[in-house]
Amino acid sequence: MKKILLLTLVVALMVTMLFIGTSCKEDKTTAEAEEVTETAEEAEEEVAEETTAAGELIGVTMPTKSLQRWNQDGDNMKKQLEAKGYTVDLQYAENDVNVQLGQLENQITMGCKALVIASIDGSALSEVLSKAVDEGIQSIAYDRLIMETEDVDYYTSFDNFKVGVLQGTYIEEALGLADGDGPYNIELVAGSPDDNNATLFFNGAMSIVQPYIDSGQLVVVSGQTDFLTIATPAWKSETAQARMDNLITANYAGDTELDVVLCPNDSTAIGVIAALDNVGYGSADKPYPVITGQDCDIANVLAMIDGKQSMSVFKDTRTLAAKAVEMVDAIIKGGEVPVNDTSTYDNGVKIVPSFLCVPVFANADNYKEILIDSGYYTEDQLTK
Ligand code: GAL
Repeated sequence: MKKILLLTLVVALMVTMLFIGTSCKEDKTTAEAEEVTETAEEAEEEVAEETTAAGELIGVTMPTKSLQRWNQDGDNMKKQLEAKGYTVDLQYAENDVNVQLGQLENQITMGCKALVIASIDGSALSEVLSKAVDEGIQSIAYDRLIMETEDVDYYTSFDNFKVGVLQGTYIEEALGLADGDGPYNIELVAGSPDDNNATLFFNGAMSIVQPYIDSGQLVVVSGQTDFLTIATPAWKSETAQARMDNLITANYAGDTELDVVLCPNDSTAIGVIAALDNVGYGSADKPYPVITGQDCDIANVLAMIDGKQSMSVFKDTRTLAAKAVEMVDAIIKGGEVPVNDTSTYDNGVKIVPSFLCVPVFANADNYKEILIDSGYYTEDQLTK
């Protein structure tokens, strides 16, 4: 009897072990199976994504090739969109509004599924964008807000007001204005009047600088302070240079020294530097004034290394392009379009939902870290 009992017990034990073993195995396999499924699903999704993106045509229009950064913006965007499976029609319009309108018309006719537009004149696109809407095409304003139309869907840029604040704060600190230093002589330069950003840069900078003009610590010897007088159509270096030539001749002959020039971007700064070079600034008795800038163009970074330009606001075009690509992808796939500002950017007809990236500044002390270590430029590109 005992033997039979023992035998049964052993058999029961073996059966249980067998059962447990199998179910553990089963659990493990289930988990593995689940994982595989997941990966398969992901892969399927990816394939689905690829197929969804595969070949979808995206229109990208940039203002000009003659200003360095737009070449980087266009290249980055094209590369990143193609990496996601899109086909890209990338166009440059050499700052000619009619050429840009023609390019947009073509992109609509060609069947682009979305448009990314860095406008030349933000107020000139209402008609062509209404045609895009008729075709069910959504558009993203890139870097510069598109004005006076209901038919722009999203906007991505850097915080443009903050760009100006960075420039104004740099002047404040460089001259010790907060400590009451001064008076210093300043001249003001603004950007292109057809570019909504130009007003935001100027307002941002003046939010810091104006109180010192009011207190007399900063003196605008030329008296030129209103936006349209100091604006630089199409951001042209030669226009900024010609204006600075006249300002110097009229106001800075003799001992009057120019201590600071508020320049909104690098193409205007390079024009101002050329004008100052022509009258001997940079010598021991005529040091370069504090000169601001934006975009960290190679020529201007070299000017900073040379001690001619003081700073330049850095806006990583890879970051901005990546945000625009994310927006395109969400539009095409019906996903959630990334926005982080739904109140600031009123284009005169509506508040355009926006994603703002954060600008920083570079100067002779930190450019290696900001521009070379980040891979934006190579050491060679910044060596004369
Ligand atoms: C502005 C842009 C600046 C500068 C300027 C001239 O709209 O935000 O970064 O590049 O145009 O191109």
